[in-house]
Amino acid sequence: MHSPNQPNPAFAIDVRGLDQFYGETPVLRGIDFRLDRGRTLALLGPSGCGKTTLLRLIAGLLPPTRGSIGIDGKAMADAATGAFVPPERRGLGMVFQDYALWPHMSVAENVGFPLEMLRIGKQERTRRVLAALARVSLEGLAGRRPSDLSGDQQQRVAIARAIVAEPRIVLFDEPLSNLDRELRESLVGEIARLVSSLGLTAVYVTHDHSEAFTLADEVAVMQGGEIAQLASPQKLVEAPASLAIAEFLKLGASADAIWQDGLWRLAGTGIVIPGPSDIPASRVMRVMFARKALRAAPPGEGTMDGTVTQAQFRGEGYALSIGLDGAGPPVSVQMMSEARYRAGDRIGLVVEPNGLRWFAAEESQQ
Ligand SMILES: Nc1ncnc2c1ncn2[C@@H]1O[C@H](COP(=O)(O)OP(=O)(O)OP(=O)(O)O)[C@@H](O)[C@H]1O
Ligand SMILES: [Mg+2]
Repeated sequence: MHSPNQPNPAFAIDVRGLDQFYGETPVLRGIDFRLDRGRTLALLGPSGCGKTTLLRLIAGLLPPTRGSIGIDGKAMADAATGAFVPPERRGLGMVFQDYALWPHMSVAENVGFPLEMLRIGKQERTRRVLAALARVSLEGLAGRRPSDLSGDQQQRVAIARAIVAEPRIVLFDEPLSNLDRELRESLVGEIARLVSSLGLTAVYVTHDHSEAFTLADEVAVMQGGEIAQLASPQKLVEAPASLAIAEFLKLGASADAIWQDGLWRLAGTGIVIPGPSDIPASRVMRVMFARKALRAAPPGEGTMDGTVTQAQFRGEGYALSIGLDGAGPPVSVQMMSEARYRAGDRIGLVVEPNGLRWFAAEESQQ
């Protein structure tokens, strides 16, 4: 058994009880997680929630106010003992949003820089630099300057530089957010393949849930300096821990449901939907319709009826927004339909009970 104060060598990263203050301002609270070797963890959350701060703590660019960080069983930082290993001795690779390449150096010199720091000889350096460039499909560009490269090529250079010294762990801070959507989508797949073919452990910061879901084995959803939920992408979608998380992940549209005469009804519509048998004292809950919870039917033949307010073709079908019939405040839901609908069309909706997510109503205030 290892002592409770020592990082557990079974994990690549072992973070315990981290609190971070900038001056008097708390920025991270009670961050606690362990990451297995060879796994990718995404830190996902809105701007200002503390993602970069947590990454900087792991990297060693910042000492923690409270708590400890272990890598491969060794204490990298521990506020209680004052232990602190500087970034260059943590054996990590890092990739940032703004590439951070040196403009006066060639691509090869940029990529080879970490090896120079390690005093690796020229011949071995050249060999490793070319191998790293090949990994990111930049074989032919070793002699160019960063300014002669496109944004995605510059980021590939930064990725090559991050892996050239063969670290076991690579940290990414929103590496794709300066690229346009198409490049982002192809590069995220490439990063995933690279990380898995090198057997790397990775921590990947993003505010884009689809990026996190594509790449990560586990996702830590961060809100206001805390990890609100840490789970696999599938678990997050199936069982988001709160309405705020479900809304951040854009899992569907939500509405109030009211318990009346022994039935759950959508507020303002009178529509009866299947719901939990555990009735809260307030008799009100918030229900979210995951996209797959709804199936189109002819008007009058589903659980509820409505009018299509928006229809966008998305390759795999039509993304529909539907305003439900009812006297009260408008309730709008979204779904995918293979059949074509236009704004203004009447539509019936069949509700699949296992696609509904129920939350305490108090949470809907945020
Ligand atoms: N050096 C600093 N001094 C004081 N406050 C800081 C400092 N760096 C960050 N903060 C504050 O800490 C909070 C968390 O910042 P952080 O950069 O970690 O967020 P983030 O999740 O990475 O956001 P973004 O998505 O915008 O990059 C923010 O409120 C930010 O203003
Ligand atoms: Mg950030």
